[in-house]
Amino acid sequence: MSDSKEYAPVDEGHRWGRAPRRKPVWTSKLIALAALSLTVLTLWRVQRQGDGIPSLQSEQIAKAAARCDYLAREPGPPPDFHQRTHSDRFDPDTPATLIRRAKIWTGNENGTEIIHGDILLENGLIVDIGHIHKSTIKKYKHLEVVDVHNAWVTPGIVDMHSHMGDDSVPELSGSDDYYTPNAAVAPWARSLDGLNTHDLSYELSTAGGVTTAIVLPGSAGVIGGQAFPIKLRKTKERSPTSLLLEPPININTSFPDLNITPQWRHLKQACGENPVSVFGMTRMDVTWAFREAYNKARQLKESQDTYCSKVASGLTDDLGDFPDDLEWEMLVDVLRGKVKVHTHCYEAVDLDQLMRISEEFQFPIASVHHASEAYLVPDVLKRNHGPKPAIALFASQARYKREAYRGSEFAPRILTEHGFDVVMKSDHPVLNSRYLLFEAQQAHYYGLPENVAIASVTSTPARVLGLGHRVGYIKPGWDAGDLVVWDSHPLSIGATPIHVFIDGISQLPSAHVVLKPSSHQKAPKVPNFDKEAAAVVEYDGLPPLKAKKKVGGRVLFANVTTLFSRDGDEVTEMSLVGSGSEDVEGLGIVLVEDGAIQCIGTEHSCAVSVSRPQHNLEIVDLKGGSISPGLVSFGAPLGTAEILSEDSTNDGDVFDPFVKRVPSVLGDERTLVRAVDGLAFGGRDALTAYRSGVTTAITAPSSTGFLGGLSSHFSLGAEHGLKHGAIISEVAGLHVAVSHAVTSASISTQVAALRRLLLHPGEGPGRDHFADVTKGRIPLVIEAHSADIIATLIRLKKEVESATGHTIKMTITGASEAHLLARELAHADVGVVLKPARPFPLKWEEKRILPGPPLTEDTAISRLVGHGVTVGIGIIESWDARNARFDLAWAGLEAGGKISRKQAIKLASTNLEKLLIGSTRSKDTSDFVAFEGGDLFDLESKVVAVISPLQRSVDLL
Ligand SMILES: *[C@@H]1O[C@H](CO)[C@@H](O)[C@H](O)[C@H]1NC(C)=O
Ligand SMILES: *[C@@H]1O[C@H](CO)[C@@H](O)[C@H](O)[C@H]1NC(C)=O
Ligand SMILES: *[C@@H]1O[C@H](CO)[C@@H](O)[C@H](O)[C@H]1NC(C)=O
Repeated sequence: MSDSKEYAPVDEGHRWGRAPRRKPVWTSKLIALAALSLTVLTLWRVQRQGDGIPSLQSEQIAKAAARCDYLAREPGPPPDFHQRTHSDRFDPDTPATLIRRAKIWTGNENGTEIIHGDILLENGLIVDIGHIHKSTIKKYKHLEVVDVHNAWVTPGIVDMHSHMGDDSVPELSGSDDYYTPNAAVAPWARSLDGLNTHDLSYELSTAGGVTTAIVLPGSAGVIGGQAFPIKLRKTKERSPTSLLLEPPININTSFPDLNITPQWRHLKQACGENPVSVFGMTRMDVTWAFREAYNKARQLKESQDTYCSKVASGLTDDLGDFPDDLEWEMLVDVLRGKVKVHTHCYEAVDLDQLMRISEEFQFPIASVHHASEAYLVPDVLKRNHGPKPAIALFASQARYKREAYRGSEFAPRILTEHGFDVVMKSDHPVLNSRYLLFEAQQAHYYGLPENVAIASVTSTPARVLGLGHRVGYIKPGWDAGDLVVWDSHPLSIGATPIHVFIDGISQLPSAHVVLKPSSHQKAPKVPNFDKEAAAVVEYDGLPPLKAKKKVGGRVLFANVTTLFSRDGDEVTEMSLVGSGSEDVEGLGIVLVEDGAIQCIGTEHSCAVSVSRPQHNLEIVDLKGGSISPGLVSFGAPLGTAEILSEDSTNDGDVFDPFVKRVPSVLGDERTLVRAVDGLAFGGRDALTAYRSGVTTAITAPSSTGFLGGLSSHFSLGAEHGLKHGAIISEVAGLHVAVSHAVTSASISTQVAALRRLLLHPGEGPGRDHFADVTKGRIPLVIEAHSADIIATLIRLKKEVESATGHTIKMTITGASEAHLLARELAHADVGVVLKPARPFPLKWEEKRILPGPPLTEDTAISRLVGHGVTVGIGIIESWDARNARFDLAWAGLEAGGKISRKQAIKLASTNLEKLLIGSTRSKDTSDFVAFEGGDLFDLESKVVAVISPLQRSVDLL
């Protein structure tokens, strides 16, 4: 383990013995001067011709002069931009709108200004905010008035990393348009050219408050191509072009239209593993690809500058054409400072390389994306040629590949402390940008200040994109709405838009609004993570995650507000407020011995004393906290994969009998693989989940095909598989998948295979686990999303049951469209595990989702639970296991009172056990988790201990 590094301010120029860096003289200024003198010269020549008619040659020279003049123009809005009376995106059918009684987060004063008042929208612009005088209002004949009753209003969310439209959903083979596989260096490629206007995400993400996104080409290429900011609302023209926000002027001309002020252009680049894997390169090749490309651009730029200096000094005799090249002009604009360069770049080795390119070719990197090691090397990033780059991050997604392994939830706060602009981004559809605000909520939970957290998805990305003059703030003269009215404080979990305006046009005319608890109207008072944030830097991104202390004897939890208990199927909620003696301010205590809860009550009733500590009694002050059942994770390869993209860190995939002959050493396809045999303990996602209250996981063998194998239920905190309590069920359920996603065999072929395996028990010596399924001994867990496939499986269940006379325990996982069969599932006694908990129509089979508020009143969970279906929630990737408690809180809030707190907890505990193992654990073998300062549903609490009767101890974290 390395020691913590001190990042003392260093005079950058003197490091490594380099000469101090000189401020670059912007060539553009020289060119401006040259162009000015040229214009004078040209005018003089024209006058000298006497008749005032310019000769052919002088016309050419004037054209050349204008082109050279253009080189010096700085991109951005014209100086009189805020005198505009209409937005260029105004739609004449839009009524003027008055939003009344709002709590407005304006984005001003570093995100700390909040104005209580009204907002007036007209002609696609915000015309006034604050107290709007009656006389102003009286001027309008038609004014839409929206009273928002003191709700929070923020600027529309700006997503600084999206592939919306280019990697469109549902994913079809005709919609992979987010990069070119034909060239690793493709500065000519334009994301606009692939923008599918039928992507289902526009409407869904708008419903999450996203109003603007920049569509970046994918990160396969070293220079992936040109990116374009869009607004998400549908337009009358229905074209990709009409979605563009401030397109650069040469979008429909080969070279710039000289009459228009240039806008910022955007370029996407990538370092590291992506170009390495897609284009068969190594990191050395990637760097050379950058250098070779920018060297070509520099040569072209130099020839342009030479041309322009000739023009300026009147040496125009054999001038020829202005040197230009469609393939390279974008990179010349990068070198001229007209482009915001956004670079996907993760690790120290790559960030360092990127900064060397920036220095060598003298252009600034506007933003570094993913950047999982940025917080470890802030001084490297300060070497950027120009201001510090913005850092665009995920909140908790990490460890899926080597370069993401050291990603940290504390990066946003650490980078902010180092003075970097931090942006939270979606990489949509990698994360569903509908929930981009959740990234800011998590960043805030782990220590990013409130003002910076809200700015990280609004003003900061707007400013970094060079669009801060019109979006990302609520100010007079800015685009009319883009603004969002929220049902709760934007940093409280589950905050959902009530209204979304884009260009002054209401995008949610009939929102389904859920009443949120009043405590959600202010920012959560988040726990202190200073020590954890310091440790992650000290340990070079890999801080120890094991429990600090394992206590085998007695542990007393004091100042407890609530205890959620569980026994078998049931979860009960017990309030301990008012039960305590005076010493503990009316709160209760919970006494644990050898990892089992012995007594719930008061010092008196439990016969212990806090003030006279006894021998062997560990006291933990929960500060008004709560104890609840350990949660269960399902769906990700927890325990079977450590770094998803690295085979050597994983158990690997089982054989798919549709694709490959099962090797004879395995017998036949009835020899099922058991996950328990491939489990690895102590992985970082597992321990991170454990520290977040998720104490066990049910994992099936990894499979990319029809046949899965036998899942296992195990502890996420155990050191190895022989520890007491490490393995809870060796065999939980039998897993298969029926989906187009897993094999090229048809759906009906997959069902035929399943029918045969269930109806014709195997012969031979081995145990046939399909027979266990038909006899109802273990659940049959089937991954299926489409309602039609689920209906077929319900029929198959009946068919097999009537043939065998036994009842099958069947569970559908994934289940995006299960809500369409809520009644039938309940009737057939088939339960579902929704995976992910909040559905997204990624695939055709998943497209008929029930999106929940504000688009529908019901959520998939509330609809299914309402019909009596047993429902669990799952995840897809291991990093997400830690977020289970946020998913539960969200599910409960969204359901608008249709599911209780107890029911919410069951979704990720007892219900998952019932659905995936076929039975639930008793109280005596269930883990409990102690939260300090709140309960599992809020962002004010922190896990401090895990109480484990199986391990007969308490882990103090
Ligand atoms: C903005 O606020 C953050 C957090 O409160 C602070 O760290 C930062 O220094 C502030 N920036 C400015 C320019 O005041
Ligand atoms: C080219 O595109 C710009 C920006 O969208 C637009 O303003 C202009 O009218 C277009 N020009 C032509 C000739 O279509
Ligand atoms: C319970 O909370 C009170 C108030 O913060 C504190 O004074 C007391 O020490 C706590 N009890 C224990 C046992 O830590």
